[in-house]
Parts: sequence; C-alpha cells; structure tokens
Amino acid sequence: MRNNNILVLGGSGFIGRYVVNFLVGRGCRVLVPTRRRSRARHLILLPTCDVVDANIMDDATLDRLVARQDAVINLVGILHGKEQEFHRVHAELPRRLVAACAKNRVARLLQVSALGVGASAPSMYLRSKAAGEAHIQASSLAWTLFRPSVVFGAEDRFLNLFAHLATWFPFLPIGGADAKFQPVWVEDVARAIANTLDNDATFGKTYELAGPRIYTLRELVHFAAGAAGHPRPVIALPDGLARLQARFMEFAPGAPLLSRDNLDSMKVPSVASKQPFVPAPELGIRLTPMEPEAALYLAGMHRRTRFGALRARARR
Ligand SMILES: NC(=O)c1ccc[n+]([C@@H]2O[C@H](COP(=O)([O-])OP(=O)(O)OC[C@H]3O[C@@H](n4cnc5c(N)ncnc54)[C@H](OP(=O)(O)O)[C@@H]3O)[C@@H](O)[C@H]2O)c1
Repeated sequence: MRNNNILVLGGSGFIGRYVVNFLVGRGCRVLVPTRRRSRARHLILLPTCDVVDANIMDDATLDRLVARQDAVINLVGILHGKEQEFHRVHAELPRRLVAACAKNRVARLLQVSALGVGASAPSMYLRSKAAGEAHIQASSLAWTLFRPSVVFGAEDRFLNLFAHLATWFPFLPIGGADAKFQPVWVEDVARAIANTLDNDATFGKTYELAGPRIYTLRELVHFAAGAAGHPRPVIALPDGLARLQARFMEFAPGAPLLSRDNLDSMKVPSVASKQPFVPAPELGIRLTPMEPEAALYLAGMHRRTRFGALRARARR
C-alpha cells in the first residue's frame, strides 16, 4: 500500500481492532497509542502492530506519534461525559490532529464521526462530533470522513448490552423505543476505512455507513434478547420516565449504561440520508444483514475471540 505507516488513534477500541487487523493483513506497519496497554492486548501479538502507552491529549506526545507516519486514522470517541469532555475528545482532538499532521507533513487523515451529527443537534455527542468534522473539513489535508449508524459485531456494546440485560430482567423497560437505527457490521466499516486509505477519489469526501435495514430500538432490543435465548417483553417508557431512568444510571457506579445525552442523540434518526442505502462503490463493501451475523454471537457461539466469527460460521 502507498500509505504504509499508519497511526490509529482509538485502535484499541471495538471498531479499531478490526481496522488494525485489516491494515496489518495488508502489510501496513500500524502504531496504536493507548491509555491502558492491557486494553489493547489483543493487538500486541499482531506482527506489524506496535502498541504504546501514550497520552494523546498532550500536544508534544501527539506530535511525536504523528511524526514519520504516512496517514492517521482517528477513531477516538466517547458516549458519556460532560460538555467539556465531549468537546475535548470529539472537537479539540481533531483540531490538534490537523495541526500535528500539517506540522509533520502527514497529508492523509481519516476520521470516524457518526450519522446525525450537526451543529444544532439535540445532544452533546452529536454537536461535538460535528465540531470535530468542521475542523477536518476546513483543513488542507487529504481527509475522508465516515459517519456510521450504530455498529454491530461480536464485541459491540449495543446488542450485547440488551442481550445481557435480558438474562437478568423479566422485562426490558427502554426509553427512545421508536428511535431509528440502521445497524452496520463492524467488518464492513473497517473494510471501507482500509479500502479508502490509498484511494485519491475519496479525498475530501464524507461517507455515510449504514446497514441494509432500518430498525426501531424496540425491534433491536427484542431481537437481541431473543437471539440470546431470553425473549423478553420490551416496555416503551414515556419520555419523562426514560429521562429519570437515564439520570439514575448516570449516577450509578462505573460507566453508565445510558445517559440523558444518549436519549437526546436518539431524537435524530441514525439512518442514511438516502434509502435504500447503497454504499459508494469506492468503499468496496457489500452490506452484511444484521440478524444472521448478530444471532451467532448473541447466542454465545463466539465470545470475544479474534477467530470466533469464523468458528461460529464453521459451527465449531
Ligand atoms: N460503535 C458504534 O456503534 C459507533 C457508531 C457510530 C460512530 N462511532 C464512532 O466510532 C469511533 C470508534 O468507536 P468504538 O465503538 O470503536 O469506540 P470504543 O470501543 O469505545 O473505543 C474508543 C477508543 O477511543 C479511545 N479513547 C476514548 N476516550 C479517550 C480519551 N479521553 N483519551 C484518549 N483516548 C480515548 C480509547 O482508547 P484507550 O482506552 O485504549 O486509551 C478507545 O480505543 C468513535 O469515534 C465513535 O464515536 C461508533
């Protein structure tokens, strides 16, 4: 590949691990900074992947990481936090990244955003992502932006969460039950990113990434619980109760399962702007339907292993 040395910010995360695997498979040398090396242990054994402990929020560190790379892929993102945290991670990091790339003459930058972003969107998540996009679009770099809907895959924290909750509760009360999503498979997202890396035709373009079918949240929860072997009634909470539930979860220990900002994000349908969604040919992907693929991992047939999907398909 023309771009051979790639810095992948957020490479330790759910989507990142697939992106890194594709890049390594194509012979790239990949550098993945992380705040906790243990989080990226699945990448350490990959032959041409270096995982380093680094604080990417420090300018000098970011500069050192970007230096001598051919391209940068930014997958860093958060779902919960206060306004300043969203701003720091989703808006400031892309701005600093643009500056670091320009300074170190790294021309190629790929950024993962989200469907529904907008400067006046109803959630901090969507507004901060829009601000990050704006910094990249205003740059003179060879950038490409991706806006996925919710992403599903063996390690996802969306369908797996509902499948998990269904093992504990006799019914599932949810807010935003009618919110719309168009789930896209993690391998399709990662392949699209890897395929565009060297393709000049994708420079300066923003690509939506969605699956073949639109679902309501209620349908997704129902599916996940059933596929996990615990079919449960799904109860749609009215807005007031949903916000109370989310507020309660925000104050529970650990990372919240749901926040009021998540509910606000769901007010914008997470679906592609044109239906039926047809991915741009230069992305080189064919859309994978959710149900057969997700049913395999939700049924526990493969558990967070690199080869799990292959094993599950082979029924081993
Ligand atoms: N998953 C989805 O359904 C979905 C849908 C639409 C858009 N997206 C976007 O796609 C991107 C990747 O999503 P994902 O699901 O793979 O996320 P993820 O699994 O939560 O991974 C997030 C990554 O960001 C890094 N990170 C988070 N906060 C950070 C901070 N404060 N400082 C430094 N690094 C930080 C983490 O690195 P370490 O913890 O290793 O340091 C981790 O590698 C995100 O931008 C997300 O908004 C995801």
